[in-house]
Amino acid sequence: MQKLLEKKEQSEILKGSIVTLLFYEPSSRTFGSFASAVRRLGGTTIDIQNPKQTASVAKGETLEDTVKTFETYSDAIVIRHPDTGAASNAAAAVKIPIINAGDGIGEHPTQALLDMFTIYQKFERLDSLTGVFVGDLLNGRTVHSLLTGLSLFKNNTVYLLSPKELRLSPQHKKTFEEKGMKIIEISALSELPKQANFWYWTRVQKERFNDIKEYEKIKLAFVVTPEVMKKYAGQNMILMHPLPRVGEIETSVDSDTRSVYFSDQIRSGVSVCMALLALVLGKI
Ligand code: NCD
Repeated sequence: MQKLLEKKEQSEILKGSIVTLLFYEPSSRTFGSFASAVRRLGGTTIDIQNPKQTASVAKGETLEDTVKTFETYSDAIVIRHPDTGAASNAAAAVKIPIINAGDGIGEHPTQALLDMFTIYQKFERLDSLTGVFVGDLLNGRTVHSLLTGLSLFKNNTVYLLSPKELRLSPQHKKTFEEKGMKIIEISALSELPKQANFWYWTRVQKERFNDIKEYEKIKLAFVVTPEVMKKYAGQNMILMHPLPRVGEIETSVDSDTRSVYFSDQIRSGVSVCMALLALVLGKI
């Protein structure tokens, strides 16, 4: 898929297939990468963004009824929803493939696949890695899914750094530790390990706060600056971020060759979506 993407060749793998992109929460990258992936493979999309305002959902329709309808219109549904578990509820209601593109503070498995692909391309392995996760580890679904993915491989160690209110939940921590992942919680940038393979920086998830003042207090607790890179980042590491960033990585870090959030990660996103769609639609 990556070769197809690099050559910008139009493929016909999904010719005749229709994929519904049903996004109940805002998205630009995930929506865009799926739309691009379907079209690059010769398929078409039905784009529904913000159905709470624009569609029957505004009239009170349940998620199950909505997906049942789109099951008739399309061959697969990519869904993003504010409720944890929404994608699996949708999958239980229909027979066509449902792809979870983010469910509340739950999971974001397609982001995890592209993140793992990015790491794999750099280090040629997904085991015996040292990673650093920073930011909103409580509410960040991309964090949960990447940790889940990495916990499937042996000998991975992760350092976790977050404001104390946003630490990874004890249940998550237990699950990953039981799978053999080594988890080390730290409380300051000065404790970052020099030998890390990757840093996975994330934004504090504003939309999950009831009290905006609480968010304001901790939103920029940990910021990557050129000085932080110089002091704590190894030469062969990569700096990742699922995006959007809202100040937690200074723009002056973007030109650092170790920053991959606007390059390898974005590219991986489209090829991973292409591969996944071809796979679930039985084309490869
Ligand atoms: C993330 C998400 O929506 O969970 N963005 C994405 O899909 N790349 C990260 C975020 O919103 O912070």
